[in-house]
Amino acid sequence: MLASNRGREALRAYSQDQAEGEAPCRRRVTQLRKPIPFGPSVLPPRIARYLATTKVPSPCLVVDLSIVERQYADIAKAFTGARVFYAVKANPDDAILASLTKLGSSFDAASIGEIDMCLKHGVNPLSISYGNTIKKQADIAAAYARGVRLYAFDSIGELEKLAVAAPGAKVFCRVLTPNEGAEWPLSRKFGCEPEMAIDLMARAKQLGLDAYGISFHVGSQQLDPTQFDVAIGTTAEIFRELAKRGIELRMINVGGGFPSRYLRDVPPIEDYARAIDASLGKWFGHDKPEIIVEPGRYIVGDAGVIQAEVVLVADKGGTDKRPWVYLDVGKFHGLAETMDEAIKYRIVTLRDGDEKAPVILAGPTCDSADTLYEKSICRLPTTLKAGDKVWILSTGAYTTTYSSVAFNGMPPLAAVCI
Ligand SMILES: Cc1ncc(COP(=O)(O)O)c(C=O)c1O
Repeated sequence: MLASNRGREALRAYSQDQAEGEAPCRRRVTQLRKPIPFGPSVLPPRIARYLATTKVPSPCLVVDLSIVERQYADIAKAFTGARVFYAVKANPDDAILASLTKLGSSFDAASIGEIDMCLKHGVNPLSISYGNTIKKQADIAAAYARGVRLYAFDSIGELEKLAVAAPGAKVFCRVLTPNEGAEWPLSRKFGCEPEMAIDLMARAKQLGLDAYGISFHVGSQQLDPTQFDVAIGTTAEIFRELAKRGIELRMINVGGGFPSRYLRDVPPIEDYARAIDASLGKWFGHDKPEIIVEPGRYIVGDAGVIQAEVVLVADKGGTDKRPWVYLDVGKFHGLAETMDEAIKYRIVTLRDGDEKAPVILAGPTCDSADTLYEKSICRLPTTLKAGDKVWILSTGAYTTTYSSVAFNGMPPLAAVCI
């Protein structure tokens, strides 16, 4: 068993509780009269088995590394010939980075911190892309000193920093693209207008950089594989315009967006690979460029389950008859993507055979923003009560890193990889 530092600390604290004979821990274990359900629409079997036999603090994310490895293999196979850069921000757990390094993955890093996490595992710096378009010049220089030679940018200011701090490096310009169909859109914050990208890439060459290619991101949890077509068409136009100026781009970074399975079914990864390949054929003919894919959510999302606990079920009176169900996990323990109720997680309990009714689901902290689902319909068993365990599925991506350090004095989300 491997555990992140954070997981280890929480586990240590938990074992101390055990050593001191704290009753709540034992109560939590004996409460599991029924077996933890496992299977395609409930918990992955290895995680269910682990949780049935191992005491973990609550809440705790458990990630099955065999699923991470399978997801990597599946996307690498679907996108034959492309380079896969795992987006470290999705889940930078040491055990995950070690597994993916072993499988030959490359890495998309957003900061020097993430670059160092990769280098610690022996990743070749030439297999790291510094993909954040917003970087301090000192950080670019630090990455360059570590051997990183691939950088993203989307503005003249950033390009000028790269020219000084990463001379001769390969650069790619991120362009804006519609994010329709994405459950977690990435806004106008990243990317520039395509016309501007043409001028910026020409300028990159003048500044002595290697004008390598174009990137985009169609939005995270993108449920429509055809959304890549517009971006690839735009990119082809940029390639053509720059070719007229004597600059031959060589690479398209199609970003991430490949989904995890939350409440709704999602298309298989092969559908995305087929759609992207068809678009490349349509816009580039036989002269297809090198392709980079940067999956984050797809690799780790479905590999993780958060085990949490009901803290309170409360009726509040008034016209809204729905009870409030408060969990010991919320927006400040990693479930930040419930912001605007965007990501709708599946929740499993041992009472799922009982009658279900809509509830308002919230986290444990003293902040009303810590409400997970109020506008959307969240149905839970009417028999659910304080102390019951709940399992929040497909929580392997964008949870541990979003968790606050100690909001309301509560520890951050513990995490274990098995
Ligand atoms: C530059 C970049 N690449 C890749 C990703 C991963 O996206 P996803 O998790 O949707 O695969 C992100 C996510 O924010 C990103 O910013």
